[in-house]
Amino acid sequence: MGLFSRKKTRQAEEVDFSNLPRHIAIILDGNGRWAQKRGLPRTAGHAAGAETFRRVATYCKDIGLEYLTVYAFSTENWKRPPQEVETIMSLLEKYLYEAIERMERDKVKMEFFGDVSVLSPKLRDLIARTREISRHYEGCQVNICLNYGGRDELLRAVRTYAEAYRNDAAPELTEENFSRYLYSAGIPDPDLMIRPGGELRQSNFLLWQSAYAEWYFTDTLWPDFTDREIDRAIADYQHRDRRFGGIKV
Ligand code: IPE
Ligand code: IPE
Ligand code: MG
Repeated sequence: MGLFSRKKTRQAEEVDFSNLPRHIAIILDGNGRWAQKRGLPRTAGHAAGAETFRRVATYCKDIGLEYLTVYAFSTENWKRPPQEVETIMSLLEKYLYEAIERMERDKVKMEFFGDVSVLSPKLRDLIARTREISRHYEGCQVNICLNYGGRDELLRAVRTYAEAYRNDAAPELTEENFSRYLYSAGIPDPDLMIRPGGELRQSNFLLWQSAYAEWYFTDTLWPDFTDREIDRAIADYQHRDRRFGGIKV
């Protein structure tokens, strides 16, 4: 039995790197609990989580993943104490500042999903600079969801569509047409969605795009997340049978 379970674990982590999901989305959850478990302030968890993000994004780029989308701050996260929100925002500034410095070397294309217009001028400037530099890159694309909410994204898309055709006859509204009004325009839907931190919910993340995503939940708190854990999630995904409503032939 011992031997069997060891073998099984090894198999479960074996990734077929020639057949990766195109797009992985991750809810970066569990920072606060990670810190609390260590008797540290929650903000220390966010700092640790930012480091984990740097590591995991590099790993995803190295294995040749095309798209990585991460949920960093939701439209609901403004409910948190102002001091925690401020710390998260200043960690984001620090992260982007350092990312810009390394971009020439890393060549990771970075995008942002969410309403960034309400963020501080400094953050908006860093976001604009990151976008500008990224325009020329073609490799792995990392999308950071900042002040992002799935419902907010859908409402914005509907409003923009209605506004665009206020005076003209609107073309037929198909799923494909509608997708062009989302932050994710032009990007394939996520194949694999990962939620660390033990919660079994979607928390307003990629509501439209996740329609046929495969979910992977783990109790590991985000700051403890490792490359191996990404491997486990991908290997698990590779054993799923995606039918998209059809039947297996
Ligand atoms: C995720 O970690 C980071 C953000 C939502 C900004 P949390 O801060 O939600 O950590 P927990 O869930 O309280 O442990
Ligand atoms: C989801 O985590 C949002 C982000 C990770 C940015 P939350 O911690 O905000 O989610 P809930 O409150 O547990 O649903
Ligand atoms: Mg949380």
